[in-house]
Amino acid sequence: MSAMVNINGRLLDTEHAVISVFDHGFLYGEGIYEVVRTYDGVPFLFDRHMRRLRNSGAMIRLDLPVSDVEIERRVLETIAAAGLGTDGRDAYIRILVTRGVGEITYDPAACPEPSVVIIVKPHVDAPPSAYANGVMVSLVGVLRNHPGTVNPLIKSNNLLNNALGHQEALRKGAFEAVMRNYRGEIAECSTANIFIVKDGVVITPPSDAGLLMGITREFLFEVAQEIGVPMREQVLQEADLFGADECFLTSTTRELVPIVRVDEHVIGSGTPGRITATLLDAFRVRARVLVGGSTR
Ligand code: PDD
Repeated sequence: MSAMVNINGRLLDTEHAVISVFDHGFLYGEGIYEVVRTYDGVPFLFDRHMRRLRNSGAMIRLDLPVSDVEIERRVLETIAAAGLGTDGRDAYIRILVTRGVGEITYDPAACPEPSVVIIVKPHVDAPPSAYANGVMVSLVGVLRNHPGTVNPLIKSNNLLNNALGHQEALRKGAFEAVMRNYRGEIAECSTANIFIVKDGVVITPPSDAGLLMGITREFLFEVAQEIGVPMREQVLQEADLFGADECFLTSTTRELVPIVRVDEHVIGSGTPGRITATLLDAFRVRARVLVGGSTR
């Protein structure tokens, strides 16, 4: 794998990028992360990702030990060391902050210094067939965490909930898992947000449904407003999903991917929808315009 890693400010190749087994990120999944990608070599919406990282940190009482400027400097240095950015290849950037190394105890006082890890590798798009034909997803039995447990608003390294949901979907041959909340409402996918289109209106579950507030989701609201596509938050039930005219998922690494089937239920015409395609085109254009000017 052609990846480069930065651990607490030190650049390392994949073979030497190791972290202590006493790091509470490893022992307890105690940490937070962000996934950022570049467009044309520039980290996309970097400030928004940093804001969410700090919010996630605050929700587990973990203060980031370095400034956003320093994290950005390390990210750019790691991208350059990975040989990406200059050759037209975009980068996948995973920024992780864990409680740090300490005695085996839940007491955070055991860990004086959080660990900051940045992994950079080549960005890989979802397969062209996913955009051209749409994908099948599965409504899985694993529920998304109750907000009173590990709140889905925290982009946490503690990913067992998501991994179990995703693995259930993979066993059914699906591209992604759609997860419900404890009330049985649609929450989100295991690694993405979910949207439906009904009668020309784009609808996605609200924060209260227990989901991660995606940066792509947020940006898409702005794109939709600019091009005059109505988009709003609303509680979605299973029946809304099955009866949708169109459906798609969003995430940093996959942008918008059309969903054409949920298990045995065909969505709309069974092909990627017109509004989904319009939003994806507009999203891509605006992403490239934005990186041309700034990362904000
Ligand atoms: N996943 N919901 C969950 C549970 C996620 O893990 C993600 C992101 C999203 C979409 O968020 P954003 O648009 O900010 O990427 C929603 C990233 C890409 C990942 O874990 O790889």
